[in-house]
Amino acid sequence: MTIDKIPEEWVRLVKDIEEYHRRFIIFTLGENDTGKSTLCRYLVSQICHLGRRVAWIDSDLGQSILGPPATVGMRIVSPTEGEESPLFLRFVGSTSPIGHLLQTLVAVRTMMDKAIRQRVDGIVLDTCGFVTGRIGLEFKFQKIDLVNPTHLIALQKGRELEVLLRNFSYRRSLSLRRFPISEAVQPKSTDQRWEYRQEQFRKYFHEAKVVNFAFAGLGLHGHLPDFQSVQHWQGLLIGFCDEMNDTLALGIIQEVDLKRKQFSCLTPLQPKQRVRSIQFGSLHLDSSGRELILKK
Ligand SMILES: Nc1ncnc2c1ncn2[C@@H]1O[C@H](COP(=O)(O)OP(=O)(O)OP(=O)(O)O)[C@@H](O)[C@H]1O
Ligand SMILES: [Mg+2]
Repeated sequence: MTIDKIPEEWVRLVKDIEEYHRRFIIFTLGENDTGKSTLCRYLVSQICHLGRRVAWIDSDLGQSILGPPATVGMRIVSPTEGEESPLFLRFVGSTSPIGHLLQTLVAVRTMMDKAIRQRVDGIVLDTCGFVTGRIGLEFKFQKIDLVNPTHLIALQKGRELEVLLRNFSYRRSLSLRRFPISEAVQPKSTDQRWEYRQEQFRKYFHEAKVVNFAFAGLGLHGHLPDFQSVQHWQGLLIGFCDEMNDTLALGIIQEVDLKRKQFSCLTPLQPKQRVRSIQFGSLHLDSSGRELILKK
């Protein structure tokens, strides 16, 4: 995608980072289709051009760019590492934070801490458009509070973010900036958003294999399925986690034997990867990665 004219606010933000902020955490905020991801991409690439190491954290679970949907992804980009550095994932459980608010917040903070431990100069955080309504507002309030950004970039059409922004307008450590929305933003329909998610899942599971997996003795967490109902397990999206609960790979449960505590699972997990716990999500997918709507 090319941006015809880079808005002066964007250029000024990069200049401020260059001149005044050896360390920075940029939080982008806005409803759907406000240009958040495009801005994040621009910031990551421009700040990287300044010679800085930047962690790009993508916490949009539905229209995710880094990693498959239902995960928070993180990549460290620098002049030497480029954009092909390792991708870190944290499975959240679904393509929306609703029903997974805690997992989403913990995933974002864990990724930030990992980036900080890897001595990045700064973080650029992309977020989802879930920002209004009673739950959306409180979720975003808690997320901003937890992330404690140095820069909060509000992309709003009217004044829809003001009620949230008021909470942070007196925070001395934070620079609050309101950016206009570009007329070039192309809104996506609900169907386009759904298709995008399916395509991202399809690509992720494209080279996956069916493996048999015994889960006796392993940690189990997330939305634990009903141990009396095989149907509840079949097609369930899960995360295979390491000892720090970072996600090694996602999987789609195929067949399950609840007595023997075994299942077969479609997954790109590599045999050498050591699974320490299994995180259960709340989505069901068919073996091509399409979301299934289950009858209750
Ligand atoms: N400044 C811009 N110039 C040209 N095209 C843009 C610009 N900003 C956004 N777009 C285009 O508009 C579309 C939506 O932008 P983007 O994905 O950045 O928005 P978003 O707020 O992240 O959306 P989502 O709600 O899906 O996360 C994209 O196709 C993008 O290429
Ligand atoms: Mg986006």
